[in-house]
Amino acid sequence: MNFLQEAQSLAPWLTELRRDFHRRPEHGNKEFHTSAYICRALESMGLEPKRLLEAAVAAELQGGRPGPTIALRADMDALLIQEHTNLPYASEVPGMMHACGHDLHMAALLGTARLLSDHREDLCGAVRFLFQPDEELDGGAKRMIEAGCLDGVDWVFGAHVRPELPAGQVGVRYGASYAASNPFKITLRGRVAHGAEPQNGADAIVAGAQIVTALQTLVSRRVSPTESAVLTIGSFHAGSQCNILAGEAVLEGILRTFGEENRKKLTGAMTDLVEGVAAAMDVEAMVDITWGYPGVVNDEAATALVQRAAETLLGTDRVTVLNEPVMTTEDFGFFLQKVPGCFYHIGVGSPAPLHSDQFNPDESALPAAAALHAQVVWEAMGQA
Ligand code: NI
Repeated sequence: MNFLQEAQSLAPWLTELRRDFHRRPEHGNKEFHTSAYICRALESMGLEPKRLLEAAVAAELQGGRPGPTIALRADMDALLIQEHTNLPYASEVPGMMHACGHDLHMAALLGTARLLSDHREDLCGAVRFLFQPDEELDGGAKRMIEAGCLDGVDWVFGAHVRPELPAGQVGVRYGASYAASNPFKITLRGRVAHGAEPQNGADAIVAGAQIVTALQTLVSRRVSPTESAVLTIGSFHAGSQCNILAGEAVLEGILRTFGEENRKKLTGAMTDLVEGVAAAMDVEAMVDITWGYPGVVNDEAATALVQRAAETLLGTDRVTVLNEPVMTTEDFGFFLQKVPGCFYHIGVGSPAPLHSDQFNPDESALPAAAALHAQVVWEAMGQA
């Protein structure tokens, strides 16, 4: 069994798939063309894809012998970015672009489906291919789980492209890999007055400024210096005119943490701090915290399995154990809350980062990405 060799012979097809996805990006649970395209590709392999939600796809490959059920997930959505790469297969949709590599994720997973379909009789167990919409905005993973996509699944695996790693290099990370996120909105209600007579009102701008500063102490004074968290206020809107005391201020931001303990502690402390400072400034505060994506926490045994599979497939020099987590978020964390598994990284050597209008991943990583999923399944079924 040499999945890498087999995947390399599929390279032109994998590239074509990826470019087809790239030309026609979709997003926000409206990946209708993309999901139809995926269904046709899966049907051509003899699989029977099912639609979940509006745009999600799930297909199961039953092996010739009994064994565990292993789910593999690719996300499908693009971003609201105008592409500036000048590539011949650049996005044909104005203002939208696959700038996070999800086009590669889909092409690689279809490649895996083809590799494993060709060895269906040798598989001990079942493989469930999950194509998930709406990763970037509203957590399509959560809704797919509610629709039953993980029912009966023993392990779940997924991967994301990583521009900093050279093409075909694999990155694995044990334990906490991505932060949990809590977007929040703070609304401050003061009292409007003449700018020359502040004693007659309550200044929402001054209170907001104090709150922005006070919130910086959450990470610096409530979190152990050896742990990580970050709180960013990304917008602050208040006031209408230079000679009027602002009666309202609205601040929005995101708190990112590792571990549920810090998450609960900091969201609670944030509310107390905002309400306390606002009260001291004679302003009313409403704190609205959204429970966003959970962190991505890789299972120890599943991660060891991925590392072993990657080393077997590509050689030890092409596998990097990542020492640090990232502060960005990924809704794969919802899958890992339900079922043990691992979310790993495939190098695509792009000088431009993810979410850049010039993101241009090296497509030569596609065969390794497709083969690695297959090898992971093979090892998880205990056939290595
Ligand atoms: Ni992404």
